[in-house]
Amino acid sequence: MAQLDDLRKQISLVESDLDEGLLGLTDQQTLETFRIEFLGRKGRIARLFKVLGELDADARAEAGRLLNALKDHANTAFDKCRDKLQIVTLEGRITKEKVDLTLPGVYHSLGHLHLLTQVQQEIESIFLRMGFDVATGPEIESEYYNFEALNIPEDHPAREEWDSFYIDGSHLLRPHTSPVQIRVMEQTDPPVRIICPGRCYRRDTQDATHSPVFHQVELLWVEEGLSLANLKYVIELFVREFFGEGYKMRLSGDFFPFTEPSVQVHMRSRGSSDWLELGGAGMVDPAVLTNVGYDPEKVTGFAFGFGVERMAMLRYGIDDIRTFLTNDLRFIEQF
Ligand code: DAH
Repeated sequence: MAQLDDLRKQISLVESDLDEGLLGLTDQQTLETFRIEFLGRKGRIARLFKVLGELDADARAEAGRLLNALKDHANTAFDKCRDKLQIVTLEGRITKEKVDLTLPGVYHSLGHLHLLTQVQQEIESIFLRMGFDVATGPEIESEYYNFEALNIPEDHPAREEWDSFYIDGSHLLRPHTSPVQIRVMEQTDPPVRIICPGRCYRRDTQDATHSPVFHQVELLWVEEGLSLANLKYVIELFVREFFGEGYKMRLSGDFFPFTEPSVQVHMRSRGSSDWLELGGAGMVDPAVLTNVGYDPEKVTGFAFGFGVERMAMLRYGIDDIRTFLTNDLRFIEQF
């Protein structure tokens, strides 16, 4: 019986060491070392089991029961402690890695098309709806397409109107989009109905209304039976679509070698008395039609060339053409 008492004492010592020890644990790693110390194959509880063999048969049964109870107790206590520590670790991580969803996020701004591109696309869509095609031509142009074919022979004083950047003796950066008219007519039989938006270059000194690089949109319609009235109607329709109802337009006489008669197109908002020039227009000169192999007795045509920056400036109240090119975000982001 003395042996059994002794065992009881050791059991309660192991139990209280275990319970107290577990209370002081703060992380899983030390918990595992602690578990091996008690429940490992050579741990304190396993060592107590060794005593069993030395006991009398009747004491052994009781001792076995006590030791198994100790083992069960130890297992449950460790499991509980492990669960508790897992929660503690998790809570620690949650606090440490917490994301404050009310903080402002990282803002990535989206780009958008430049105002001029937007305006150009809108012009294209208006004319596409009217049944025009969009044509393009080279920005480096030959003198033939840029001048001769447009009825502006060499030494004609009108050439000075298009003060150009020359690349070599006979090629230049196109000062207007009119050469595209010739290129298109050379490739197509009438009827022809195109617009051509594009970049143009002139040796102009920069100021609020001049820029050495700018955009035009050219229009050309050649068919049987067209007159100046048709031209006026198309321009009026376009002005109404692009600028809205509150605008008036007027045509006044002008001269261009490639049109006869030639007109200048002006417009103003109803509230204003200032007429602003959109560009030139007119009935295609018979000489131009002949140059591309059309029969001026059979077909007639009209054309115009408007400044794209000019239209954007009128519509959005922009007073300096240079703002289109300076890439100032305060300007660009407004549109
Ligand atoms: N090309 C002319 C310019 O740049 C504008 C122009 C006038 C174009 C009359 C035309 C036109 O198509 O018919 O000044």
